[in-house]
Amino acid sequence: MTKLKMQTPDLTAKNIEKIAEFFPNCITETVDENGQPKRAVNFPMLKQMLSGEVLDGDEAYEFTWVGKKASIVEANRPIRKTLRPCIEESRNWDSTENLYIEGDNLEVLKLLQESYLGKVKMIYIDPPYNTGNDFIYRDDFKQSAAEYDEESGVFDEEENRLFKNTDSNGRFHSDWCSMIYPRLMLARNLLSDDGVIFISIDDNEVAQMRKICDDVFGESNFVGLMTILSNPRGSQNSKNLSYVHEYLFMYAKQITELEIKGINKSEENISEFSEVDGNGKKYRLLGLRKRGGAWRKEDRPMMFYPIFVNPETGEVSLKKSDSYYIEVIPKRPTGELSRWSWGKDKFLAETSLLIGKPINRKNEPNAYDIFRKDYLESESGEIKTAKVKTIWVEKETNYQNAKNEIKALFGNSEMFDFPKPTYIVSKLAEMLFDDDDIILDFFSGSATTAHAVMQLNAEDGGNRKFIMVQLPEPCDEKSEAYKAGYKNICEIGKERIRRAGNKIKTETGADIDYGFRVFKVDESNMNDIYYSVAELNQTTLASTLDNIKADRSALDLLFGCLLDWGLPLSMPYKSEQLGDCTVHTYNEGDLVACFDMNIPEEVLVEIAKRQPLRAVFRDSCFADSPAKINVFEIFKLYAPDCTVKVL
Ligand SMILES: C[S@@+](CC[C@H](N)C(=O)[O-])C[C@H]1O[C@@H](n2cnc3c(N)ncnc32)[C@H](O)[C@@H]1O
Repeated sequence: MTKLKMQTPDLTAKNIEKIAEFFPNCITETVDENGQPKRAVNFPMLKQMLSGEVLDGDEAYEFTWVGKKASIVEANRPIRKTLRPCIEESRNWDSTENLYIEGDNLEVLKLLQESYLGKVKMIYIDPPYNTGNDFIYRDDFKQSAAEYDEESGVFDEEENRLFKNTDSNGRFHSDWCSMIYPRLMLARNLLSDDGVIFISIDDNEVAQMRKICDDVFGESNFVGLMTILSNPRGSQNSKNLSYVHEYLFMYAKQITELEIKGINKSEENISEFSEVDGNGKKYRLLGLRKRGGAWRKEDRPMMFYPIFVNPETGEVSLKKSDSYYIEVIPKRPTGELSRWSWGKDKFLAETSLLIGKPINRKNEPNAYDIFRKDYLESESGEIKTAKVKTIWVEKETNYQNAKNEIKALFGNSEMFDFPKPTYIVSKLAEMLFDDDDIILDFFSGSATTAHAVMQLNAEDGGNRKFIMVQLPEPCDEKSEAYKAGYKNICEIGKERIRRAGNKIKTETGADIDYGFRVFKVDESNMNDIYYSVAELNQTTLASTLDNIKADRSALDLLFGCLLDWGLPLSMPYKSEQLGDCTVHTYNEGDLVACFDMNIPEEVLVEIAKRQPLRAVFRDSCFADSPAKINVFEIFKLYAPDCTVKVL
């Protein structure tokens, strides 16, 4: 019977498999430390395969820094960790599809690789900007806590490695790059083919971020870099300039699959549609003359032609006649010849949308120009959406709004240092098509993204689901949050989701998902049973008798199996008694688990008769090998399509 692995997948091995699929001639065999054959990549051959020229030097156009290779190895290195459910801190545990995960996001992203591979539509992150004062999580497991302490580092509750990255650090940028790079590599795997990632950043690392994203997501998947007016009064932190903005990157997983719906028009936008046609439909007039790039007559000579206007009605024609006699050619106010933005075919197909009107032009009495009607509503009667602009200057993007949102929930705006306004995340989610997507934020801080998702769902009836990831970074003892009883940032984030949910429910009465399941990163559920004989002592001997750690509950094991088997953590399940055993049925039979010892045959038969897709038991629950073979036989008989595994 196959055993569950109970550790994150070996991504290096998976990557080699993928390369083998495309370049079988680049795969070679070597031996591992035990002399067993293993597959490896022939890198010189792979390099050569990817170049049209014979390569003899080592130079390449790439962005690199001290530690880049190590961070790739780090991203691919498997870990023996798990996510333990925490029902007490969750809300609506049984019914919610939202997740709040506490832990280092590098580990969390690794743990989610199987369950959420290609399932996330939108990622929003607001990582530390590397301002010279940020705490960064160092993914180097070799140094001791004492050594880190000496480097003026601090530790979170679990002695994890957070250190203050000051610009006196000789590897100031390299350390930050090494922190963000493996996380983005892992995050990319989670995006669906039509998914997108948005990343907030400022001038400290904007250049590095662009290079890293080009590397991880591919230059061709760059959608845009937006500028956000975040502090209209101007920050005084910089010596020479007063900063009022920050940036927002947008990359697609696969640009060819990306579909953008756009956002709802603001009231100001709507008021621009002030004209009304004979059917009572609102429209605005846009000039038909080409504005912006390639506007000259010579750029598109076929789109330079005269249009004739009937001054009585404003109607237009390509032919001059007694009624259509005012000739208009495309030209700029300066008199330079320009061109129309429609060719003659489009003109003929959509003439009814065009109108000629008198305009004021210097030195040209009786001047006319041509306009096209742009209707507010689509043919189906819905108000058309607008494209998101690359510069955001709305008052809602002001950081002060984010502070006010925190104040409205906690009575104190200083509860969290750098929150983002919910407006930003809402607008980003709104511009994507579906309203039942998964939205992930793995630097979630005060959980603005969760707040924004609930707010947007309440407004448009959507069913978007969020996954928040946050390190339990301790609050400074002098901070307002600490004084109010919040020991770490996760406590602030979870409480914000509860309070924001209550507020939205009171204000809108919307029947949406206000809950979230809490999980915490912990050591694997499994004992390390591969001790050498010399290492066995009384304590370790006792623990090898059961390969599962004594403090793990059935629910810990159930969710550990879901991660291993690649099932999402947000589905409903029920736990019931069959005889003396507790049987857990996940998502109506995607998986059935029973972790009791000595499961009687009738219970096994009952489980098999339900024909689940997967079944899992404890290895040690079978008295001997024949008992194990018996289970296999039972499932072969009653549920031949079910995959049975043991822990
Ligand atoms: C700038 S804040 C994000 C603020 C958030 N957008 C909001 O509106 O509240 C960055 C957050 O990332 C968290 N963080 C930093 N390193 C992390 C890591 N390795 N794993 C998880 N969270 C981390 C920090 O604790 C901090 O709360």
